[in-house]
Amino acid sequence: MGWLFKSKQKAAPIGKWDLASPLLQWTDGAPWTIGDACQGTQIFGSTGSGKTTGSLSAICRAFLQAGFGGLFLTAKREDAATYTGYVRDAGRMNDLLVFSPDNQLRYNFVDAELRGDGGAVGLVENLTALLMTVTELGDGKNGGGRDSERYFRLEGTRLARNGLLALVLGRERVTVPDLHRLITSAPASPEHVQSLEWQRGSFCFQCLQAADKASKNESQRADFDLALTYFLNEWPSLSSRTRSVVQSTLTSATDLLSRGAARDMLSSPTPNISPAMCYDGAIVIADFPVLVYRDVGQLIQVILKFCWQRAHSRRDVAANPRPTFIVADESHLLVVDADQTFQTTARSTRTAVVYATQSISTYLDAFGSQAEPKVHTLLGNLQTQIYHQQTDIRTIQYTQEVIGRSRQFVMSGNSSRDGDGLASLFGGGESGASSGFSEIYEFELQAGDLNSLAKGGPPHWMTEAIVYQGGRRFPNGRTWLPVQLTQKR
Ligand SMILES: Nc1ncnc2c1ncn2[C@@H]1O[C@H](COP(=O)(O)OP(=O)(O)OP(=O)(O)O)[C@@H](O)[C@H]1O
Ligand SMILES: [Mg+2]
Repeated sequence: MGWLFKSKQKAAPIGKWDLASPLLQWTDGAPWTIGDACQGTQIFGSTGSGKTTGSLSAICRAFLQAGFGGLFLTAKREDAATYTGYVRDAGRMNDLLVFSPDNQLRYNFVDAELRGDGGAVGLVENLTALLMTVTELGDGKNGGGRDSERYFRLEGTRLARNGLLALVLGRERVTVPDLHRLITSAPASPEHVQSLEWQRGSFCFQCLQAADKASKNESQRADFDLALTYFLNEWPSLSSRTRSVVQSTLTSATDLLSRGAARDMLSSPTPNISPAMCYDGAIVIADFPVLVYRDVGQLIQVILKFCWQRAHSRRDVAANPRPTFIVADESHLLVVDADQTFQTTARSTRTAVVYATQSISTYLDAFGSQAEPKVHTLLGNLQTQIYHQQTDIRTIQYTQEVIGRSRQFVMSGNSSRDGDGLASLFGGGESGASSGFSEIYEFELQAGDLNSLAKGGPPHWMTEAIVYQGGRRFPNGRTWLPVQLTQKR
């Protein structure tokens, strides 16, 4: 039978970037490989349970030692210093790029998408997706899953797409402030469209005119006809309430992107950083910690993450085989819908994504309504899961379900007493008892097991966790492995 055939060829030596190359050993005989890392990692643990100083630290150091390039996203003020320490310890300070207002690095996400391979249509679609991702940040907790909200998001997508198309066809450069101007000068009524005064004063109208005159291929002509119908007929016919909700969905993002740090860092006329630099080993720290910079920090880092993911999914791994990482501690502050999509392809793009957050509950909160399926899709594509000490019931139940049940023997006993009172307890009175073992199917891990894992700190500086990898059986014969991780190096 074919499947019994065993090759007599000697196994080839494992190359540096081979997926089978080990990054670290959980315990003796339990390696974690590049291939494992590229299938995504989720770390869970209550606050102070040892995520940052235990498992995340071990993983980041392993990536750096192995020579990965990558992107560190930040949440707390001290994160950049922590990651810089890891880079220094790995002897890779020459590869370090800190993306912050105090440094010279600047990005331009529009230019980056323009250089992508999709041409004008690709640019429109990619920028539309990026803008809609950014608008998620604002409405995560506002019931983003209700039907009415979905309708507004769909309309927002149409507005962004048609506006961007008019800009791409009609102007030499596409900028976010121009998109903002176009959206805010779109006709507010059918009368506007006919009015010469509106036509003269409207940037939207000027862009449509310029796009109309510009030379276009057949497909662009067809797309532009749709954009023209949209702006001159459909948009002005919407009710004013609908128009204002749809418009503000987009303008809150375009406004934030058009000013201050977000504009300077992400729409620079002289960009000098790109995701492709990570294929050559660059290590980028996005030093805009969300807990310091709030919505601007979130916006800048979500856009970087999105653009890095986009570029990585286009990467030719034969030409650029060096694996890269994207690390986000306190990941609930930075997750968006696009992360689930990227995660389904991360392995083939050799991108090792690592997220750490307290619990399922923090994720559910971050995704807003309709969160449950989104969280489970994301987690389903993060194949290594590390569970530190946990008190959140939902996460405990989730962990129990993931790890599953096994046949276990429990001692059972029952007794009946005829006598009453103290005498029977002390052995007096008539009694009958039976006991023995019975077999039950029970969760392998009990809540108490997860609750009592060591959090670390002095004097031992050792934190405990349980490692699970989808489809893997560890040397202990189980699908999960208890590990101890040092916090001091
Ligand atoms: N510098 C330190 N001094 C004393 N104890 C520390 C120090 N750093 C970490 N610890 C201890 O180690 C444990 C784990 O800390 P760590 O920061 O890794 O937790 P965490 O899971 O990342 O928490 P959080 O969700 O709050 O970020 C904590 O209980 C903390 O008390
Ligand atoms: Mg932490």
